[in-house]
Amino acid sequence: MLKRISALILAGATALTMTGCGSSDSGDSSVGSSGGGAKDGKIVMGFAQVGAESGWRTANTKDIQETAKEAGVDLKFSDAQQKQENQIKAIRSYIQQKVDVIAFSPVVESGWDTVLKEVQNAKIPVILTDRAVDSQDTSLYKTFLGSDFIEEGKKAGQWLVDQYKDSKDDVNIVQLEGTTGSAPANDRKSGFEEIVKADPKFHIIASQSGDFTRAKGKEVMEAFLKSNPDIDVLWAHNDDMGLGAIEAIEGAGKVPGKDIKIITADATHDGMQALADGKINFIVECNPLMGKQLMDLAKKVVNGEQVPQRVVTEETTFTQEQAKEVLPSRKY
Ligand code: AHR
Repeated sequence: MLKRISALILAGATALTMTGCGSSDSGDSSVGSSGGGAKDGKIVMGFAQVGAESGWRTANTKDIQETAKEAGVDLKFSDAQQKQENQIKAIRSYIQQKVDVIAFSPVVESGWDTVLKEVQNAKIPVILTDRAVDSQDTSLYKTFLGSDFIEEGKKAGQWLVDQYKDSKDDVNIVQLEGTTGSAPANDRKSGFEEIVKADPKFHIIASQSGDFTRAKGKEVMEAFLKSNPDIDVLWAHNDDMGLGAIEAIEGAGKVPGKDIKIITADATHDGMQALADGKINFIVECNPLMGKQLMDLAKKVVNGEQVPQRVVTEETTFTQEQAKEVLPSRKY
């Protein structure tokens, strides 16, 4: 419905305003679709979420649901339980339902071209949120809203380099990677490694996926501790794995934050509490509150307006002192 109205309005407007970035048919997203707009004229968004694997994800889901309501967007939401095939099914069902726009946070980076071409053939615009796809054909989506994960990894690595700048001793690092094949796992790993590998005193002695969950983080850290008696530093790709690892470290009779320095990503409430308590040493923020930006972008792409192909979310880092200061006003 909404698409039809938009198409009529846009037909009268200048064609120049209809050329969106990164897409060959940005201005035509409304044309040729039978339209899935709700009867009350609201934009209908199909959102295929990764899952509920972490505190970050829970905050992200809540924010998207709340901001959709505030923006008057009719949200169809699905939880893929960290499985790509579930996300693909959800996207196909949104095509069937003729939604106005599809947004999703891809579990892994690769393997999306087929389903994204189906969406493109159905003339439904796609917005990537949070995580990227590795498709060469950027016309398959209108925009990608999310963090710069390489930069996050670099910030973690730089903090470590600064901490040990006056030491000549070897530094043994273990890494808890996020979900295998996911953009944040790939990019945080490469960003971090690029920085620390420049100095030969840093050694990544073990690196394994903890799937972004607390339980798996604990399990993998227990295995790291058994096979590596001299761990100096843990770099966990998210707070939840770091929090699971803290349990493993304490279980092994060591003191997290002292015997083993810990760096994580996200800055969720539980992570920040552990940072303020001295159990984590440094957190690189990854902001899950992107719902408002998503709803604004969705309205624009449905209306055929131009949007940037990449929108990077703003983020910072936190030391233990900074965590104590900001914790009372943290939103997630
Ligand atoms: O894609 C963002 C990452 O996914 C967050 O860092 C992590 O906590 C989540 O599961």
